[in-house]
Amino acid sequence: MNEEKLLVDQADIDEHAIDLEALLQLGPMAPVSNPYRIYAALRRDDPVIETTDMMPADAPRSFLITRYADVRSTLKNDKVFSSDIVQRTMGIVMGPTVVGMDGKEHLKHRTLITPSMAPRVLRDGGFQETVRRTADRAIDVFISEGEADLHCDFCFQFPLAVFVSLLGLPADELGQVHQWGRDLCLVAHDPATGLLASEKLLNYLTPIVQAKREKPESDMIGTLVTAEIDGEQLSDFEVVSFLRLLVLAGAETTNHLLGTACFAMLNDPQLMERVRIDRTLVTPLINEAMRWESPISTVMREAAVDTKIAGVSIPAGASVLCHIGAANRDERQFTHPDLFDIDRADNEHISFGYGPHYCAGSHLAKLEAEVALNAILDRLHNLRVAPGGSSRMIGFSFRGPDSLPVIFDHAEASC
Ligand code: HEM
Repeated sequence: MNEEKLLVDQADIDEHAIDLEALLQLGPMAPVSNPYRIYAALRRDDPVIETTDMMPADAPRSFLITRYADVRSTLKNDKVFSSDIVQRTMGIVMGPTVVGMDGKEHLKHRTLITPSMAPRVLRDGGFQETVRRTADRAIDVFISEGEADLHCDFCFQFPLAVFVSLLGLPADELGQVHQWGRDLCLVAHDPATGLLASEKLLNYLTPIVQAKREKPESDMIGTLVTAEIDGEQLSDFEVVSFLRLLVLAGAETTNHLLGTACFAMLNDPQLMERVRIDRTLVTPLINEAMRWESPISTVMREAAVDTKIAGVSIPAGASVLCHIGAANRDERQFTHPDLFDIDRADNEHISFGYGPHYCAGSHLAKLEAEVALNAILDRLHNLRVAPGGSSRMIGFSFRGPDSLPVIFDHAEASC
């Protein structure tokens, strides 16, 4: 994708110019189009900025960090920067999950959940074929039309459809799971809706987990309910909490990754053709989509002790918003960071986080994206933006395209 095309998107921020304060006030789900100019200025002038005055009156002292090196070292140092704040925010809808734990508790839970998502589990046992069938079924729904909104009709449907088939749930319950996933994400702005979805998911998933515990299978839930460390197992509630995290991850991460990869190809037909012909490029495409628009742009930490980041004092108890999305565009780390370039060397993006909380689902997310993009490239020939169709990248804490209206020529039967 060339810079000219990105500048078209960039113009949006000039039209609706907002400053950092407005951005923070709008909150994590703000549908902002292109905040990267703000982040570039912050990285240059205020890489560790106190945002306390821009937050609600009763909020603790808060800081925002935007440089790659600072975000990486903060995420690495879990002794000084605690994740407990994640538990007190997102934990209210997910329940207790690794993402909001520290130290030994975190290590124990992480050891219990990671086997269920190990590459071996995902590559064996027909899982990959199941994912491909799921992608094909999603495409089957619209392929004969010759047109679709890939964002709604595919990218949003597919990761949750994988979740539903993983759990062996009836396909017609996908819509409901979908809705709960979306509602969970609303918790920061609409706690009642988020909490209701959380409770409904608890009621829905608990009997499924109980049944798997009585008759374990070698699938993901089976691995979760039988995992054991020092004689301890995850309780049903902890497994359900983890599954709610999976719903959240399906609803607000992998879909954005897929959307961004499609957005990049649709904006650069030559790139799409290159990847279509040489499928080894799907992996660098995924990596660059992850870097260019981090699906999760921000993660939160809390200083456990008085400390400093890049020389700026951070008092114990202060929250630190680590801006992964800004860090991934840091010119100190990446050459021409605003360019979408699948050929960039050393693409060490931190979109899956960094350090002890590095995304436990990264293999699953990458496998889903790889299978889905191959299915799109195999089956939607001459894929292009629909005439008059437009698409913008939006979001503050979660980023992806708002729509992807496309047309295509040849409808092929499912593989
Ligand atoms: C493109 C898709 C995804 C992105 C961008 C993403 C991003 C992230 C990030 C940034 C973190 C670190 C959070 C922190 O440090 O506070 C994280 C953690 C985590 N992610 Fe993902 N994720 C994705 C998909 C998934 C999927 C599909 C799962 C499946 C279960 C998953 C499960 C987890 C878990 C369990 C953690 C917590 C790990 C820990 O605290 O030790 N993620 N993810």
